Amino acid sequence: MPAQRTATFTESVIREMTRVAALHNAINLAQGFPDFPMPEPMKDAACTAIHGDVNQYAITWGSPPLRLAIAEKYRRWYEMEVDPDRHVTVTCGATEAMAAVFLALIDPGDEVIVLEPFYENYGPDAILAGARPVFVPMERPDWRLDPDRLRAAFSDRTKAIVVNTPHNPTGRVLTRDEVSLIAELCVKHDVWAITDEIYEHIRYAGNHHPIATWPGMRERTVTISGLSKTFSCTGWRLGYAVAPERESAAIRKVHDFLTVGAPAPLQAAAAVGMAFDADYYNHLALDYRARRDVMCAALAEAGFTFSVPEGAYYVLADYTALSDKDDVSFAKWLTAEVGVATVPGSSFYSDRALGRGLVRFAFCKKLETLQGAAERLMTLRAAV
Ligand SMILES: Cc1ncc(COP(=O)(O)O)c(C=O)c1O
Repeated sequence: MPAQRTATFTESVIREMTRVAALHNAINLAQGFPDFPMPEPMKDAACTAIHGDVNQYAITWGSPPLRLAIAEKYRRWYEMEVDPDRHVTVTCGATEAMAAVFLALIDPGDEVIVLEPFYENYGPDAILAGARPVFVPMERPDWRLDPDRLRAAFSDRTKAIVVNTPHNPTGRVLTRDEVSLIAELCVKHDVWAITDEIYEHIRYAGNHHPIATWPGMRERTVTISGLSKTFSCTGWRLGYAVAPERESAAIRKVHDFLTVGAPAPLQAAAAVGMAFDADYYNHLALDYRARRDVMCAALAEAGFTFSVPEGAYYVLADYTALSDKDDVSFAKWLTAEVGVATVPGSSFYSDRALGRGLVRFAFCKKLETLQGAAERLMTLRAAV
C-alpha cells in the first residue's frame, strides 16, 4: 500500500486535461505553458554552457553568477537588498521552492492560510509538511479579499500565509491596501508570508507589491519566483526562494536532499536572462495584453462571464449561462465537442463544489492559437 499521506492527493487535473486535449486534438488552453519560443540569447547561452562543459553539479543552492543576477534584479526592481551568498536558494522551479519552504518552515499541526481559489500545488505541499491549510475565500465576482474573513483566519496556531500575486487562477493583482493588511496581520500574529510571485512581470493593471519590502516583513517573508513564466521556459525547471539567512540555511538543506540542485548549464543561461533590461519586461507585458484582449473578447462573445484579469495569464470564467453540467463534465465536453481544453474550476478549491460553474482558460499562447480557439468557441452555443 502507498503511504497514507498520498491518499488525499489526486492526480493533477491540469496535467490530466492536457492528455485529454491531445486525445481529441483540442487547442490546449488548460496547462499554463507557452507555445511560443523563449528568448534566443538564453537558448544560445544554454548551448554555450553545455558545449563549454558546464555539465556537472552546480553548488547545491545555486551557481554564484545566477544568485548574483537574482540579487541584482531584486535591487534594481524593488530596491530590495538581497545577499546572494546568504539569502538566495535556486531550486527546480517555484514548485520545488514552495515544497522545500513548507518542509523547512512548517511543523506538523501548524496552520497555513491559503487564499482560495488557489494554485493546486499548495494543498499537497501543506499535506507533505503535515500542516493544516485554512482557506480564506477571494470573493466572486471580482475576487476581492474580505478583510474581516482574513483577520478571522489568523489564530495562535497560524505559522504562515501563502500569498500569490498576480494570482493564478483569478488574474487578480493584490492592491497596496490588500498587501498592507496581510503584512499588518503577519506582524501582529508573528506569521510568515510565503509569497509566490512567479507572474510578477505579467500585469495589465496595478503594480507588483512584493510584501518583503513592507516594514517589518523582510524578516518574516520568503519570496518565491522563477523563470518559467517570465522567460517562457517552463521546461527548464528553474526557480528560487529569497529568505532570511537562518531560514535560507534550512531551505537549502531540504533542497539539497530533495534534488541536490537545479540544472547547471541552464543556471548559466538563466543569469543572462535575469540581466535583461526593462525593455524585455515591457514587451512581455504588452504581448500578454494583446493575448488577453483576444481571449477575453472571444469568451465574452461565446457567452462566458468573468472579471478581466489584471495579471498572470488565465481567465477564470463562469459558464452557467451556457450549460448546467458540472465543471469536470463541461470541461471534458468542451474539449471533445468544441476542441478547446480548459481546467475545471473545482481543481482550485478545497471544497470542489465551490468551483462548480467555473473553468479556467490559459492564454499564454500565440495570437494565432488564440484566434483558432476563438473560432471554435463561436460554435459553442450551437453545440450545447
Ligand atoms: C502560481 C504558480 N506558482 C508556481 C507555478 C509553477 O512554477 P514552476 O514552473 O517554476 O515550478 C505555477 C505554474 O503554473 C503557478 O501558476
